[in-house]
Amino acid sequence: MASLHNLILILLLSICTAESAELWNQFCNNNSKINYTSQLSTNINSLLAELVSETILNGFSTGTYGKGNDKVFGLAQCRGDVSSKDCFSCIQTASKEIRKLCPNQADAQIWYDYCFLRYDTDNFLGQSDTSTGIIFYNVENVTDPYSFNKQLGTLSDKVIAEAIKPGNKGLGKGKKELSSFLTLYELVQCTRDLSQLSCAQCLATAIGNFATFCNNKKGCRVLYSSCIVRYELYPFFFPLDQKETLGNVPVENYYSYVVHKP
Ligand SMILES: *[C@@H]1O[C@H](CO)[C@@H](O)[C@H](O)[C@H]1NC(C)=O
Ligand SMILES: *[C@@H]1O[C@H](CO)[C@@H](O)[C@H](O)[C@H]1NC(C)=O
Ligand SMILES: *[C@@H]1O[C@H](CO)[C@@H](O)[C@H](O)[C@H]1NC(C)=O
Repeated sequence: MASLHNLILILLLSICTAESAELWNQFCNNNSKINYTSQLSTNINSLLAELVSETILNGFSTGTYGKGNDKVFGLAQCRGDVSSKDCFSCIQTASKEIRKLCPNQADAQIWYDYCFLRYDTDNFLGQSDTSTGIIFYNVENVTDPYSFNKQLGTLSDKVIAEAIKPGNKGLGKGKKELSSFLTLYELVQCTRDLSQLSCAQCLATAIGNFATFCNNKKGCRVLYSSCIVRYELYPFFFPLDQKETLGNVPVENYYSYVVHKP
């Protein structure tokens, strides 16, 4: 009996782990081509190992590895609402996948549902980077755009204010009941190396895309290197209320769009 219990638990855990490892996007900068066997490449591996072990401690780490032209800067971060177990699993997966997806690039970024990882030979730490954004919007439209957009605007202001409050580690999240059977959920997260001002700037740019690219859509995510914003009509962040279960719409139901800063 006990072993059956354990088996079910392991199965459940592996399902959860698979979900937490949902890959959203990667960016491999082809202007930063390197040889996979070079010193720089070895330094990237060493940096990744350090970042993984440090991120387990509090969900965030930055670091550098190497000297001179072979020096590399890195940042790893989990979404602030994710458990340390899910964080660990996500960052571990991210550190392996980024090297597979971008084996010959010294400048790479990877976004998962639960975590984000980045490295580059240029020092990007502490700077808000909104040069390139990736937008995923749910193909379905809301039925009542006018009232929906009003509620989304109000909720966005609220979660941004929360994210830039000292001590909140760049995380803001909240929900709003739109009707007795429909609730709007929104989460924003800056990387924790940013100042409050830089975080606010990144989030304003990210949210600014809602009206253009996510207009009247049931869900949308905007991914930048320095911040992410997301809203959905289903629960997707923690903690869950008693009645709630994590929702999920497969990636195929989202269209993606890349925006470059003018
Ligand atoms: C880099 O090159 C690879 C292989 O040619 C390509 O698949 C990828 O889209 C390129 N990345 C960017 C950001 O252009
Ligand atoms: C990569 O570096 C190794 C060792 O220095 C060298 O033998 C190999 O030809 C290089 N490969 C490329 C594609 O430059
Ligand atoms: C959503 O609305 C847009 C703009 O009105 C329309 O082009 C699109 O076909 C709609 N999508 C669906 C799935 O109904």
